[in-house]
Amino acid sequence: ALEGDAERGEAAAGTCVACHQADGMGMNNPNGESWPRLAGLPAAYIAKQLHDIKEGRRESPSMMPFANMLDDQQIADVAAYYAELEPWPELPTAYHAADPNDEAEWLAERGDWAEGRMIPACSQCHGPNGQGVGDSFPPLAGQHAGYIVSQLEAWREGKRHNDPNDLMMGVAERLDEAQIELIADYYATL
Ligand code: HEM
Ligand code: HEM
Repeated sequence: ALEGDAERGEAAAGTCVACHQADGMGMNNPNGESWPRLAGLPAAYIAKQLHDIKEGRRESPSMMPFANMLDDQQIADVAAYYAELEPWPELPTAYHAADPNDEAEWLAERGDWAEGRMIPACSQCHGPNGQGVGDSFPPLAGQHAGYIVSQLEAWREGKRHNDPNDLMMGVAERLDEAQIELIADYYATL
């Protein structure tokens, strides 16, 4: 992969601020399309998403024209830039055991193994407290609820099929509508 330069990335990100905001925190839009937080996402993850959007493995009519404007070096640069921005509020780091009476927290940390459900815990891949793991598993804590919902729906509808092992497709298709709302709210406010 190309090495990114955060300073060049900042210059190339001039058009991104309209949606992802100057601080990279994006915005939750309850009545429309939510713009994801990019601040603090792993650079390799950001770069992968931009390539996936350009190449149609991830369908987004809003994002595609902007991804298309970037060449491979510019993708590496904007990825380096956004990865360096501090997410706020800070991502939670203190681990505490999940409360079985808190449906959202239990789903996040233990999954849903009721008859016929077989939903692995989100934390298996996204880490405890939704902090993210390595380059492949993005943090969910502090991501916007509207955006989380839209991505889970995109996987269910086959509009996002960029995950080589289809891990998220298997998760998203097993969640019911109530669980999607619940888990999105949970991570957004963690
Ligand atoms: C998603 C980068 C411009 C709207 C994303 C993602 C990245 C990104 C990396 C995926 C985030 C994730 O997976 O967590 C950029 C860059 C831009 C730019 C580098 C400038 C070159 C814009 C603009 C808009 C926009 C101007 C609004 C018109 C969105 C939306 C999504 C998104 C709606 C979610 C797409 C979906 O539902 O799959 N962007 N963006 N972006 N961006 Fe941008
Ligand atoms: C990405 C939610 C469980 C693997 C994502 C994203 C969301 C999400 C919203 C997109 C983040 C973004 O665009 O910035 C959830 C929820 C889960 C869950 C709510 C539990 C109910 C899992 C599990 C795995 C997994 C168990 C692994 C087996 C991944 C991977 C990606 C991802 C690999 C990135 C895909 C890509 O490269 O585009 N998840 N997830 N997730 N998730 Fe999950």
